[in-house]
Amino acid sequence: MSKNYKRTTITSALPYANGPIHIGHLAGVYVPADIYARYLRMKDEDVLFIGGSDEHGVPITIKARNEGVSPQQIVDRYHEQIKKSFEDFGISFDVYSRTSAPIHHETASAFFQKLNADGKFIEKSNKQYYDEESGQFLADRYITGTCPHCAYDKAYGDQCENCGTSLSPLELINPKSALSGNVPVLKETNHWYLPLDQYETWLTEWIIEGHKDDWKPNVYGQVKSWVDHGLKARAVTRDLDWGVKVPVAGSNGKVLYVWFDAPIGYISAAKEWSKKTGKDWEPYWKDEETKLLHFIGKDNIVFHCIIFPAMLKAEGSFILPDNVPANEFLNLEGDKISTSRNWAVWLHEYLTDFPGKQDVLRYVLTANAPESKDNDFTWKDFQARNNNELLAIFGNFVNRTLVLTHKYFNGIIPALGPTDAEAGRALKEIARFPGKIGSSLDRYRFREALAELMNLARLGNKFMTDMEPWKLIKTDEEKVKTVLNISLQIVANLSILSEPFLPFTSAKLQKMIKLNGVNWKEAGRVDLLRAGDKVNKPELLFERIDDKTIESQIQKLMDTKKENEAGTAVKPVKEAIAFDDFVKMDIRTGTILEAEKVPKTQKLIQLKIDTGIDRRTVVSGIAEYYKAEEIIGKKVCILVNLAPRKLRGIESQGMILMAEDTDGRLCFVSPTEAVSNGSEVK
Ligand code: MF3
Ligand code: ZN
Repeated sequence: MSKNYKRTTITSALPYANGPIHIGHLAGVYVPADIYARYLRMKDEDVLFIGGSDEHGVPITIKARNEGVSPQQIVDRYHEQIKKSFEDFGISFDVYSRTSAPIHHETASAFFQKLNADGKFIEKSNKQYYDEESGQFLADRYITGTCPHCAYDKAYGDQCENCGTSLSPLELINPKSALSGNVPVLKETNHWYLPLDQYETWLTEWIIEGHKDDWKPNVYGQVKSWVDHGLKARAVTRDLDWGVKVPVAGSNGKVLYVWFDAPIGYISAAKEWSKKTGKDWEPYWKDEETKLLHFIGKDNIVFHCIIFPAMLKAEGSFILPDNVPANEFLNLEGDKISTSRNWAVWLHEYLTDFPGKQDVLRYVLTANAPESKDNDFTWKDFQARNNNELLAIFGNFVNRTLVLTHKYFNGIIPALGPTDAEAGRALKEIARFPGKIGSSLDRYRFREALAELMNLARLGNKFMTDMEPWKLIKTDEEKVKTVLNISLQIVANLSILSEPFLPFTSAKLQKMIKLNGVNWKEAGRVDLLRAGDKVNKPELLFERIDDKTIESQIQKLMDTKKENEAGTAVKPVKEAIAFDDFVKMDIRTGTILEAEKVPKTQKLIQLKIDTGIDRRTVVSGIAEYYKAEEIIGKKVCILVNLAPRKLRGIESQGMILMAEDTDGRLCFVSPTEAVSNGSEVK
């Protein structure tokens, strides 16, 4: 049940600092959270809007390992990049923190210690998979195997990305170490578990019964199904070395599970904000009159609606979320957004391609937000919404109004004269918009709220088209004054009501009409602009986006698709060999002296090679890619101690080294600098 609150704490899922952020992040979490935070601030409400980077967890250590750098280097890089993207897109966090910060380590440790001291955990030893070669336990994504639910063969130890089921390593069929590819062994280790089963009754009362009507059906449904299936104790520690150390003597090599420490990051961030501003953080997390909201994507529901609340409840001094308005997923051109497949629109790349057009993306992502089901972002839709909505409706109305005000009245706001029925209707309508938009926002219906905002621009456009001031000016200047006064009041209202959604546009617009410091409570009024004041010349708020621009974005994605298709065919690595095996090969540099196609074959060319040691004949299957005459004089690498063999009656005394791409195309592997024949390749 929603009650009257004194303040609001808004959290937005902490993105993993293992890559840049993309439109899916923005649409699912940060744009709606930001719209809501801005809306409340405009109503003069007390808001703390929290964000930060999630810097622990296996995806980060795996990435570090792949790149041969430290996890800290990875998170430093992406934390800065992510933070900048949020600033660029106007995500108005009061604090953007990170979980590698000392204050977070202290906060998470203390939280764990309190629960441990109060006996809220079960400590138990059991067998876990262990990779003997790398000397490491295989938690979460360090282990892969076949999903027991859907048979997907690339499921991770913590989750199957194909069917979404959350897993534990022991459930995987044919488990394999992600580190070495080896089959792991089982080894005894002890861990701390949060007995979620003990919270079932309480969760049922609180969510299943208490939030049946005010939580979104997609969120409520997921929680109910989890609880209905019965909850199990969950390990909150891991055998890893990257993370918050388990604050218990003798637990070296163990850290808190990333999903235990990360949500505590919301609290640490509030503490950091408190240090920075001198304000007290505690009411934002502990006062019952604070409304706590978690903005997240659907893959985070169980953590924010079951596990974190159970942790907060166990700790005892914190409030619980009033709502968790989770979104579904945004797809891109019909395909699931994926970092590893580079199937995404990255925010930093968008800004390079569309400088200054942050609001266009904010608009499209809100208008098409995956609020109740997965949705698709397409570049064509992006273009259409920009050209047919932002430009044709919003921009056009504002522009016409200001242009005519300058044309007829030198930019001086004309007075409102007597109003006819139509003008009276418009004035009454305007007054209803703040309430309509606000009521949608209060229910986290951001698409609906945005549609209402556009209806106000539509109202303005229609009013102007019906009144035809450009005709009226010849016969009834007084009436034109009234028409433009009302139009200008609509523009003023648009500048206020658009702020949460289109903050950059709103600021530009307010500068144009010299309106500032007006808040939501004043919206709906029709005397926001005073007759006699002067407005500035209009600047363009939106620009047409042409087909060429859109096609090049689509082309970029097509290229990615091609790369991926080629990429997936890359042959897996062969079985490991010893160094001794490698040095058995005697590879030298040489020069092609003669080349001629072997008659009646498609592929073969007979070569005479100067190997530095001797001149010998080699038969090579390269005729589909090279003409004999064009390769004479070419530097090559040749395996000279390969046992001779006969091809089409010709004895081949060695083998030329070629690279073969995934399409089967061959290309010479040649020295790139001058080197004498017979040099050893090793
Ligand atoms: N990093 C997680 C993700 O991207 C979200 C963490 S939210 C928090 O899915 F609550 F744990 F912080
Ligand atoms: Zn599965």
